[in-house]
Amino acid sequence: MQIVKTIEEVRKEVKQWKREGFSVGLVPTMGFLHEGHKSLIERAVKENDRVVVSDFVNPTQFGPTEDLASYPRDLERDAKLCREAGAMLLFHPEPEEMYFQDRTTSINMEGLTKELCGKSRPVHFSGVCTVVAKLFNIVTPDRAYFGEKDAQQLAVIKRMVRDLNFDIEIVGCPIIREEDGLAKSSRNTYLSPEERKAAVILSQSLKIGQEMIAQGEKDARKVKEAIVQNITTEPLAKIDYVEIVSFDTIEPISTIEGSVLTAIAVYIGKTRLIDNFILSGKGETYDNNNVKR
Ligand code: PAF
Repeated sequence: MQIVKTIEEVRKEVKQWKREGFSVGLVPTMGFLHEGHKSLIERAVKENDRVVVSDFVNPTQFGPTEDLASYPRDLERDAKLCREAGAMLLFHPEPEEMYFQDRTTSINMEGLTKELCGKSRPVHFSGVCTVVAKLFNIVTPDRAYFGEKDAQQLAVIKRMVRDLNFDIEIVGCPIIREEDGLAKSSRNTYLSPEERKAAVILSQSLKIGQEMIAQGEKDARKVKEAIVQNITTEPLAKIDYVEIVSFDTIEPISTIEGSVLTAIAVYIGKTRLIDNFILSGKGETYDNNNVKR
């Protein structure tokens, strides 16, 4: 596996692959890779002849008071994981390689970004869309892989690809969890041992909501209240949001029907964690705890 830092090197390699008739998969990441990323890379390796992983802590998706400076980084460990998972190219650019000082273009999305993480993190999705569009133009993949843990991000990227006519298939992959249910995340590393124990409250509370829906509850308000109530039993937890929205529009709904996303963001100490479950239109829950695929 090659590690490259420039756009030119990526383009040269990918052009050669395409001349040879190989399909290309892209797994965009911000590094500090874990089992969740590994599952994306392995899926990409299964479905494509060649796989590129991008490893770039994208400054434009962090707000001024967020954790850009402290975001964990470990290129050596990332490279090992990518190699083992079967990636062929690791793209690790510096911010100056990705962004012109005097840039004037970015992607802004109307709708889909007003609720959930878009509400708490106003610049976030513009930064995500802009960097992902740039990566799509640099790598020109046939398919790109994103985790369902960032469910709103997945919906936003699918919409951007549709609206801007990128000829790329977006593949969503299930959440990978720790044994106690905590969704894997690079930010879990910020948690103290006591906070790590408390963080299980996220998946535990979602499970309560999931069970209520499985037993036929259709009132989104009641499900939301039960989730909120359970989270508040954990003294280290502070709710950012608990929302039940249509997975197509990311707008709040009152009746649970169709494709539904139940998403939460909770501070455990200073660390903001997210988790969710998605209910398909057929009433099946798409989640790593009880995967139906
Ligand atoms: O999900 C992430 O890690 C990031 O938002 C992404 C998609 C790599 C863009 O920087």
